Amino acid sequence: MTTAYLNGQFLPLEQAQVPALDRGFLFGDGVYEVIPVYGRRPFRLDRHLARLQNSCDGIRLVNPHTATEWQTLVGELISRQDFADQNLYLHVTRGVARRDHAFPAKAPSTIFMMSNPLVTPTPEQFEAGVSAVTTADNRWLRCDIKSIALLANVLLRQVAVDAGATEAVLLRDGVLTEGAASNILVVRGGVILAPRRDHLLLPGITYDTVIELARAHGMPIEVRDISEAELRSADELWMTSSTKEILPITRLDGAVVGSGRAGPIARTMLAHYQALKAA
Ligand code: PDD
Repeated sequence: MTTAYLNGQFLPLEQAQVPALDRGFLFGDGVYEVIPVYGRRPFRLDRHLARLQNSCDGIRLVNPHTATEWQTLVGELISRQDFADQNLYLHVTRGVARRDHAFPAKAPSTIFMMSNPLVTPTPEQFEAGVSAVTTADNRWLRCDIKSIALLANVLLRQVAVDAGATEAVLLRDGVLTEGAASNILVVRGGVILAPRRDHLLLPGITYDTVIELARAHGMPIEVRDISEAELRSADELWMTSSTKEILPITRLDGAVVGSGRAGPIARTMLAHYQALKAA
């Protein structure tokens, strides 16, 4: 059984209960983070906490904790699990109040955290890659906020699952945005292409890390709009996230991407990523 944290208390996950009037439950009025933990060390926690602050600012929610307080709470939750590699989920809502769309005058925010075993792709899964389908990005225009209101992402991801695929690759007005639960990068002619960071996609911590690693190791990279035609003629396609790390997409809408296996640039990037995790 894993230990969770709810509003100041550590308790068994099964016992963590939130009132039905919680605005997270009624309105999806909250924000969250998913932080990978390797050998009990949270990876890039400072970046996750900075993004949490941006998400709070984006929905006008007062962040209930300073970065230092979050670090302490996260550290405590990690130490209470009996496994070392963790998928730490952290969530803040606008609290419990009589149902009204308008913000409650004063309601303490609800703070929930849990940590589960981290399951990352195996070397075999990385080599084989996964399949994805394209679909229209019909989400709101503030995808840069890591909101718990994930209905559109849920429906888009299910489009992929129903098609027997792992991820939905989203296009808005003929331009690549991201995946239903990941960022998407393209490799063409030896150059890594990353979509621009704007309000139409989540600034992924893994995406940022990949861009940083490419620049540090002199791998050619361009951050710019990527057209549907470029996406469909990619030599390599990657999905990135805190739990999937860097995972090749080797089939898109049934068509083979590149060699149909993990590409050489993905392999190099994963090696740099693994080294950073271990550092
Ligand atoms: N999702 N874009 C979307 C829409 C996402 O949901 C995620 C991650 C990412 C990648 O962000 P990061 O590299 O910081 O994990 C991009 C998490 C893992 C989730 O909702 O479970």
